[in-house]
Amino acid sequence: MNKSLRKAIIAGNWKMNKTRPEAKELLDAIKPLVANAEGNVEVIACVPYTNLETAVAATAGTNVKIGAENVHFEKSGAFTGEISADMLTEIGVEYVVIGHSERRQYFGETDETVNKRTKAALAAGLKPIVCVGELLWERECNITEEVIARQIKLDLYDVSADDVKNVVIAYEPVWAIGTGKTATADQAEEVCAFIRATLAKIYDVATADAVTIQYGGSMHAGNAAELLSKSNVDGGLIGGASLKAADFNTIVQAAVNG
Ligand code: PGA
Repeated sequence: MNKSLRKAIIAGNWKMNKTRPEAKELLDAIKPLVANAEGNVEVIACVPYTNLETAVAATAGTNVKIGAENVHFEKSGAFTGEISADMLTEIGVEYVVIGHSERRQYFGETDETVNKRTKAALAAGLKPIVCVGELLWERECNITEEVIARQIKLDLYDVSADDVKNVVIAYEPVWAIGTGKTATADQAEEVCAFIRATLAKIYDVATADAVTIQYGGSMHAGNAAELLSKSNVDGGLIGGASLKAADFNTIVQAAVNG
């Protein structure tokens, strides 16, 4: 496996945090710190819908890209409270998180809706960050690989080999998200390698080698370098630690040096 075949991507997932002035303040702090990552590591902030326009303006002309945290699969219509892919691209959003475990757990997201959202995002020119991961119970029952393979197959159903190169996969073991319990670097590598092998079966080895696979779940300034040193861990999706400019930058620098 050759890491240079794909882009390293460090993405913050702000979740339901920050008002617009707070978002601008955090991005203004992040921008100069991560400027040296340009051309080497892609740096993304995925922010609440209400912050998107502020975030795109605050990062214009810099190497920080902006992502949303969800997208609806229909183009328009009677879907109260939802946001379409075209609404996001029109603002200048480039990425979107899809199928985060919090959406699956609290908002009824299923692999079927993750698949529909992924296809709608790709059709509109957005790059989806598709989240997969097993529950603690599933890991304890030794079915992690079955769970992950099923999610990958269903979430990417009918996504072409050309399109999947614009998809980022985030492996986020549910038991590690916001809990302080990070997967060990070896556990992260094992599942990320399994995801790549699954992609190789669905598509082909060259396609699988081109897909960026992130680890997420309590990644922080102190453990990022070890996680990112693994050959199939191409980046990180970072929740809590992305809300502090210095911590987020330490993770970006770990990827730059990795
Ligand atoms: P965490 O969240 O870094 O706070 O564990 C990760 C995520 O949910 O993407």
